[in-house]
Amino acid sequence: TSNQMWGGRFAAGPDAIMEAINASIGFDKRMAAQDIAGSRAHAAMLAATGIVSDSDAEAMREGLLTVLSEIEGGTFEFSTALEDIHMNVEARLKEIIGDAAGRLHTGRSRNDQVATDFRLWVRDQLDATEGALLALIGALLVQAEAGADWVMPGFTHLQTAQPVTWGHHMMAYVEMFGRDLSRVRDARARMNECPLGAAALAGTSFPIDREMTAKALGFERPSANSLDAVSDRDFALEFLSTASICAMHLSRMAEELVIWSSAQFRFVALSDRFSTGSSIMPQKKNPDAAELIRAKIGRIFGANVALMTVMKGLPLAYSKDMQEDKEQVFDAADNLMLALAAMEGMVRDMSANRDNLEAAAGSGFSTATDLADWLVRVLGMPFREAHHVTGSLVALAEGKGCDLPELSLAEMQSVHGDITQAVYDVLGVHNSVASRTSYGGTAPEQVRVQVARWKEILG
Ligand code: ARG
Repeated sequence: TSNQMWGGRFAAGPDAIMEAINASIGFDKRMAAQDIAGSRAHAAMLAATGIVSDSDAEAMREGLLTVLSEIEGGTFEFSTALEDIHMNVEARLKEIIGDAAGRLHTGRSRNDQVATDFRLWVRDQLDATEGALLALIGALLVQAEAGADWVMPGFTHLQTAQPVTWGHHMMAYVEMFGRDLSRVRDARARMNECPLGAAALAGTSFPIDREMTAKALGFERPSANSLDAVSDRDFALEFLSTASICAMHLSRMAEELVIWSSAQFRFVALSDRFSTGSSIMPQKKNPDAAELIRAKIGRIFGANVALMTVMKGLPLAYSKDMQEDKEQVFDAADNLMLALAAMEGMVRDMSANRDNLEAAAGSGFSTATDLADWLVRVLGMPFREAHHVTGSLVALAEGKGCDLPELSLAEMQSVHGDITQAVYDVLGVHNSVASRTSYGGTAPEQVRVQVARWKEILG
């Protein structure tokens, strides 16, 4: 049997195993729309530069639209023997328009073609990620604004540290996802160069117009080095590393939601829409969405490491190893979008339990720092001494099994004689958070400043 694709050079067709290891159509069909957009831009350029006739280019451009509608309509028959999306589209184009299809590949190679298609796909995905991040930030801002003055414990080492506000905690995530947003935008700006026209690796002797195809496909400019253009996958790696950092943020937040929704904390109630029950324990309401977000992050990290590893030893220019880029990126992108959407839904639907937050905020001697600050401010004590005096008061309260505000003035004065009744003003959690008005601090007024700033940034 002769070879369906490489007839000229090859006498025999590939072994079945060869076909199985080589074919990428099973996954790269996801780039069909990008492949067809790239080919349509290329065809128009070939005509504009006089490399093919206007009528041939018109036939190609029309035929490619027919192919696209067949793929979108589900009637297209993908062939593994034709390896990948590029050859599948071209073969079908030939059936539709005849010999003119054979001129489409003039001045181009699958190497610059796949680099272009994949860039377009990743660029679309960066845009989708931007949209999902904006939606999540929007949901967090609603929570932050509603609870700008609700008090809750702030933790270090997951031990009660100082009271903070619910709004402040929500806004911490806004900052994180806001950095993710800016990383997405940076990555998009950097990757927006067009490889098309780099051909196999060296450029082409045809008088192509790379500015024209770059512009038609929404790129800023053609890439400047043909060897780099066909062997660069930085754009995919930047997507994956940006996705990894974002995923890490999602996972931290998911972990907090798991903890906060437990019976021991009861800081939040997750909605039924984002929870599941147990098949045996009727009382259970489990935070599965948060757990799955936390877990899916592993795939995204994995994809990042996998593609870095694929790329790290490749000599210039194209090697078939690079075909392994797509499944990693597709899987990471799908799971990132799912995780972002699930987190947005959970954040929108969750209700903070204000009373429990407030009760927890005051436990664990959380206003000890306020007491020490008071000793410094009112009694003029050096901070180190104030730290020591406060420590003694905490020990006294702990020994009595009570909290700091429950110590009597006499008990306070047994530790330091100058303490007055006024100290009780700083011991309440509301006083504590209201006093932290430094820029970026947890005071409700500062939280509102940040909410307003973000609303303005997002427009
Ligand atoms: N399916 C290939 C890929 O995804 C397309 C490029 C093929 N190029 C080649 N020289 N065999 O990378």
